Amino acid sequence: MQVEASRASIDELDVQALAVTVFKSEKADEGFLRNLDELSGGLVRSALDAEEFGGKEGETAYFHLVGNNKLKARRLLLVGVGEASDYKPANVSHMAGTAVRSLRSKNVKSIAVLPRASGDAGETAATAVQGAYIALFDPDKYRTVEKEEKKIDRLVVVIEGADEGALQQGVKVGAIVGESVNFTRDLANEPGAYMTPTDMAERAREIASEFGLSVDVLDEARMEQEGMGSLLSVARGSDEPAKLIILKYTPATPPSDNKELLAFVGKGVTFDSGGISLKPGENMELMKYDMTGGATVLGAMRAIAQLKPPIPILGVAPCTENLPSGKATKPGDVVKAMTGKTIEIINTDAEGRLILADAIAYAKKLGATKVIDMATLTGAVSVALGDVNAAVLGTDQALIDEIIAAGREVGEKFWQLPLDKEYSKQIKSDIADIKNVGGRKAGTITAAAFLKEFADGISWAHLDIAGTAWGDDAKPYRSKGPTGIAVRTLLRIVDRASRK
Ligand code: BES
Ligand code: MG
Ligand code: ZN
Repeated sequence: MQVEASRASIDELDVQALAVTVFKSEKADEGFLRNLDELSGGLVRSALDAEEFGGKEGETAYFHLVGNNKLKARRLLLVGVGEASDYKPANVSHMAGTAVRSLRSKNVKSIAVLPRASGDAGETAATAVQGAYIALFDPDKYRTVEKEEKKIDRLVVVIEGADEGALQQGVKVGAIVGESVNFTRDLANEPGAYMTPTDMAERAREIASEFGLSVDVLDEARMEQEGMGSLLSVARGSDEPAKLIILKYTPATPPSDNKELLAFVGKGVTFDSGGISLKPGENMELMKYDMTGGATVLGAMRAIAQLKPPIPILGVAPCTENLPSGKATKPGDVVKAMTGKTIEIINTDAEGRLILADAIAYAKKLGATKVIDMATLTGAVSVALGDVNAAVLGTDQALIDEIIAAGREVGEKFWQLPLDKEYSKQIKSDIADIKNVGGRKAGTITAAAFLKEFADGISWAHLDIAGTAWGDDAKPYRSKGPTGIAVRTLLRIVDRASRK
């Protein structure tokens, strides 16, 4: 798909279809819609007067333009975005996404999308392009029959009268972000057999050499040397060797006075059977996406390498399978983490925290002063927040606030759960320093309380994306399957930090 930006007026756009933003209760006799109504020969007024389309969020109306009109495009799609006063970048992204998915299904090959500017024109263009890329991702990679083969050849994002340079830059940034979100989704979507820890390390090496990042992959022997008994305990049951992926972005001119190093750490369990504490069979196939946290780190680093912010960023992804076997770790076993802390394994299915413990410790060893970890960590987060909000918890309220604010700017929702020290009582062990499960109550919080044990001395926040990383239903702007949650938020955090 060729993507371009344009400041042309709508009657000049030489495409098959126009997709136009309409606000709720917007009138056809003023402003943008009045112009469109005149050019379309009264179509807009007619549709609005008939009350068959009211500009509600996600609502669409589709027309063929025949007869008397002054547009080159022969089709028109009206896309509702809700109240003008609530119009945010998320609406721009969803509007563009809804437009391209819906028009692709009608076999349209060239499309002009007209978001109304939300803030800066360049950013609006970036958001629209990114929303289009995300919308066009399909999870049916391995389908060979009855596959939907319709493709869009050309997408034009139009913001009338905007600055040309800002628009061009916006399109570039939008493509980088959209492709990187889809990169993460593609990894999450892969079957466990095709996305082993070794495969993830290979993907990390590919992005490092393609876009310019330094990369290091620790094998099990090096993990042994580092004393990562917690991470290694999860890998014991699998024949696939564990990998600890390290990616580092260093700006051309690193900040001189600044010793801060922001690190992203993501859980990469490429298949989670539960181990000896075996999961029930129902829906177990979905546990291929238990590496989404790691894939999120890779996707974010892939974009960062291209966006080239002025600050260094570290990406860490501990990758392993969690399988039962004669060699697997058993409930009741005690393991020793890199920090020297001893952990009683109560349930081998609470493995994400075990691999993150050593990964966070290693990020600290590499100089990280600020860590955001992300993981499909607990089923409990779905009980608490469903598939709408991801959970955020941590020890640095300013960092948590930053994550929530950045998420809001890109249309990803994070809701803070408490992390009072009382919760840590639930993970005290009778035989070791701590245990890996804190009982039935507050499962998402006790998982975070476990991670907190390994995040002392740094600014730290944790994202539990178990409920939000996979969409069970398609939306008008997104297929079902992997959502790519948090990639855009991480990039926005880097962007905000770069401006400081
Ligand atoms: N990978 C799961 C969490 C999960 C569940 C992710 C559902 C996505 C959808 C994690 O490793 C796990 O199994 N957690 C256990 C922890 C429990 C044993 C304390 C859980 O949530 O049941
Ligand atoms: Mg092994
Ligand atoms: Zn598990």
